[in-house]
Amino acid sequence: MADKDGNKIAKNYQTDVDFARKGGFYVKGMEDVDWGMKTRLAKIFSPVSGNTVMLAFDHGYFMGSTAGLERLDIAMPPLIPYVDVLMATRGALRTCIPPEFNKGIALRCSAGSSMMDEDLSHEVIAVNIEDAIRMNASCMAIQTFIGAPGEKSSIDNLCKTIDAGNRYGIPTLGVVAVGKNMERTPGFFKLATRMLAEFGAQIIKTYYCDDFEEITAACPVPIVVAGGKKVAEKEALTMAYLSMQGGARGLDMGRNIFQSDSPVGMAKAIGAIVHNQATVDEAYEIYVTEKNQPNK
Ligand code: 5RP
Repeated sequence: MADKDGNKIAKNYQTDVDFARKGGFYVKGMEDVDWGMKTRLAKIFSPVSGNTVMLAFDHGYFMGSTAGLERLDIAMPPLIPYVDVLMATRGALRTCIPPEFNKGIALRCSAGSSMMDEDLSHEVIAVNIEDAIRMNASCMAIQTFIGAPGEKSSIDNLCKTIDAGNRYGIPTLGVVAVGKNMERTPGFFKLATRMLAEFGAQIIKTYYCDDFEEITAACPVPIVVAGGKKVAEKEALTMAYLSMQGGARGLDMGRNIFQSDSPVGMAKAIGAIVHNQATVDEAYEIYVTEKNQPNK
């Protein structure tokens, strides 16, 4: 049993040194996965920039209809050309998203509580592997609740999904949850992201925080950053910019895109930061220009 107290503090992150294993495949830590899994990862992470813009609109799985997502069939299709991956439930995808868009799919595969619950941390695997294959999922997203009452069962959900995904070549996206009573410190995110990667998740979704470059350096797989609650557009773009500067390989953003006064403008602006190294001011200009288009 490891001693909980008196451990030496980890500090040698060598954030100025690139990931050591670099060779045949461009997605971090994915040199040795199978060809099928590589093709799915290549649908998520652009082979040109190595990065990804994921549009998260899976909120309905515990929030019901959310502002901006009242009509998925109307709100989502105009945004899809500007993103790489759609993060959604199978119900939303099957009913509201034309398959011809042919984007990467981050299929929401865990669920189990609603907004009405005090504690959201008790989830189950809500999509079996056969249906994930049928949906042509590029990855399966599983929420994990490190430090919460549902920690153990969420780790079980994650590990079972990783095992199933490894059998069929589908990556698993481990999502670091934050809740009312859960920390949002660099220490917490460092712990949670590393745990999920060591369990075998091929991609990690977490939040931006101080010392972010240490978190990405210590995580042997790509990290994508969650958007969080709606904030002013410039603030959201600044967070996106700092995340990419800190070593993230993309954004997985929802409300700061679809609740903006110009969802297309925000999708384009985030894309410029993620794929074209735009500055915050350049990206903001893209958003403003789109917002000021006639009939927008
Ligand atoms: C919840 C999720 C959601 O997909 C995501 O956080 C929603 O996006 P946003 O916070 O940007 O609205 O993974 O954990």
